[in-house]
Amino acid sequence: MNETATATSPAASGETSANGAPTTPRGSAARTVVECTQLTRVFEQGGHEIRPVDGLELTVTDGEFVALMGPSGSGKSTLLHLLIGIDRPTSGTIAVAGQDLSQLSRSKLARWRNRHLGVIFQQYHLVPVLTATENVELPMRLRKMSRRERLERVEVALEAVGLTDRADHTPGKLSGGQQQRVAIARAFVGDPDLIVADEPTGNLDRASVDGVLELLRQLHAQFQKTLVMVTHDPHAAAITDRTLFLEHGKLTENPVDPQNTGLAQAVKDARRSWSTG
Ligand SMILES: Nc1ncnc2c1ncn2[C@@H]1O[C@H](COP(=O)(O)OP(=O)(O)OP(=O)(O)O)[C@@H](O)[C@H]1O
Ligand SMILES: [Mg+2]
Repeated sequence: MNETATATSPAASGETSANGAPTTPRGSAARTVVECTQLTRVFEQGGHEIRPVDGLELTVTDGEFVALMGPSGSGKSTLLHLLIGIDRPTSGTIAVAGQDLSQLSRSKLARWRNRHLGVIFQQYHLVPVLTATENVELPMRLRKMSRRERLERVEVALEAVGLTDRADHTPGKLSGGQQQRVAIARAFVGDPDLIVADEPTGNLDRASVDGVLELLRQLHAQFQKTLVMVTHDPHAAAITDRTLFLEHGKLTENPVDPQNTGLAQAVKDARRSWSTG
């Protein structure tokens, strides 16, 4: 089998992940949450074409936590932008939670994204004048939901990320790690089908990195959400069920590019260090 061409979930075959966690949390007929087929994105750069995503295949099943790695400029953010529908592919298809994204107009996409996706960015993207509670509440204000239900959900989410006592603070009064916890609460609060994160620990100091990773690991175990996380950090990739590497526009679990093979070894080592505490 051509491993580069089919980065397909081991969950589909009922295997266990590299870190020993079952990758089929809801039985053998796990639902497919992400399906990319022959996905290609071509950019024009200095008079010639580049293809950071080029005939890429990806299947992620319900409850999986997948890390995407690759050298700078390999196309990780490009792929995430396609997955969340803020960019459109040149060719190929993307379905998320059964919805073919190409079928949605720009305004329908915005509404669909609000209901089905949670997004965590490196720079948190919190609204500076709003409190932690108001930031987490924000995506649900676009939905038909009573204020009471919104606030109940926010309370649960802030408690889950350990920030109940900071609920009334604006981002300027929170540390980087705390701000990222608010952003994580905002991503989980609406019970989305898919959560994507682009370098969620890239802006944090080491102590905050470990706290945020431990939190993501716990939330994933608790809520069994489907997560796709781009990261440069092998320690971060090691908390996931599987790691895929971008290579020549495609995803593979078995990279051959020397930068990726070095990363793959570092992820294996980091998995051992998480499992030994
Ligand atoms: N809108 C755009 N127009 C033209 N080229 C683009 C555009 N967006 C990305 N690129 C190019 O596509 C390639 C992949 O970029 P991308 O941002 O996806 O990389 P990345 O893997 O996320 O890198 P990093 O690890 O540095 O964040 C780069 O060569 C980049 O310059
Ligand atoms: Mg990027």
